[in-house]
Amino acid sequence: MGSSLSSPSVAIVGATGAVGVEILKCLDERDFPLSNLRLLASPRSAGKTLSFRGRALPVEVLDENSFKGIDIALFSAGGSTSRKFAPIAVDHGAIVVDNSSAFRMDTSVPLVVPEINEGEIGAHKGIIANPNCAAIISLVPLWPIHRKNRVTRLILSTYQAASGAGAAAMDELVQSTRAYLNGETYENKVLPHPYAFNLFSHNTQIDPATGYNDEETKVIKESRKILGDTDIRINITCIRVPVLRAHAISMTFECEKPIAPDEVRALLAGAPGVKIVDDVERNYFPMPMDAQGQGDVLVGRIRQDVSDPSGCSISMFVAGDQLLKGAALNAVQIAERLVERHVAENLVEA
Ligand code: A2P
Repeated sequence: MGSSLSSPSVAIVGATGAVGVEILKCLDERDFPLSNLRLLASPRSAGKTLSFRGRALPVEVLDENSFKGIDIALFSAGGSTSRKFAPIAVDHGAIVVDNSSAFRMDTSVPLVVPEINEGEIGAHKGIIANPNCAAIISLVPLWPIHRKNRVTRLILSTYQAASGAGAAAMDELVQSTRAYLNGETYENKVLPHPYAFNLFSHNTQIDPATGYNDEETKVIKESRKILGDTDIRINITCIRVPVLRAHAISMTFECEKPIAPDEVRALLAGAPGVKIVDDVERNYFPMPMDAQGQGDVLVGRIRQDVSDPSGCSISMFVAGDQLLKGAALNAVQIAERLVERHVAENLVEA
């Protein structure tokens, strides 16, 4: 191990990517108590620099020797990079917070949303997984309800931004919209369908056996693991929409006991990571444009599901920044908890 977890030496793997850049900003804005920061990316980024706390830091090419002296490594460079390099980082004594899906369902790897299951962090064996963005954004506002009146069934429809597919997809949205407005043809390179003024079923593969795509399957499995509830019934349809960086999600959930919209509002008022935006008079509800750039998940359209006469079901609409709470911020919050736990443990020992 390098310096110490109370003032750790940190590496960002994938520092030049859509999430990596936000991790860098979160570390800065949240005054993360690091002693040293190493930025890692592919050979394509060799020679680049990124600014951090007023200094230009070089981007280094990731290799087997990148993790010497690193205490915490924040990975966001895709599953194959994580599968190859996360174990190497752990062998060098680092704790890995991994934003890819590579280890999320591994039983020895905690899958953590700090507002929900922070306690799992202590069980890590070197790797902690950051969940899928749509799972995080759905579960942050669901959790305060679930812990009071168990949610037995959840139906989600997502409206997912370009950022989930990386910086190149965000660029494709901008370029293809510009081309469309100029009356020019644009050949999509990153996503499988025309993106400007269009939407389409999530670009991950469909499992022919279930009819669900990978993204949907991830949300179902990961939600059960995060909530610690293998019985919760979940149905989901994931759609990619032409929005840059915040996901919106329509949710309907059924609880064990009857529940009224006002009870939901009371449970969500002041809940960590949640902001109610539910202005019926002005018809003002969560929008990606408002969610963009903030850490809270916006929640509104809170209403009884009139299709369920038992009174146990609620519908609502949420929006959250995919790059922040859906990825970078959640990872940095996990790293913050690692530091806090280390400091608290040392105090006890002293
Ligand atoms: P690079 O910018 O050098 O390609 P995004 O999700 O926005 O596409 O970003 C992916 C991030 O992961 C980028 O920082 C990218 O670096 C990095 N990356 C992708 N493949 C590798 C690799 N094989 N080794 C190291 N970094 C990688």
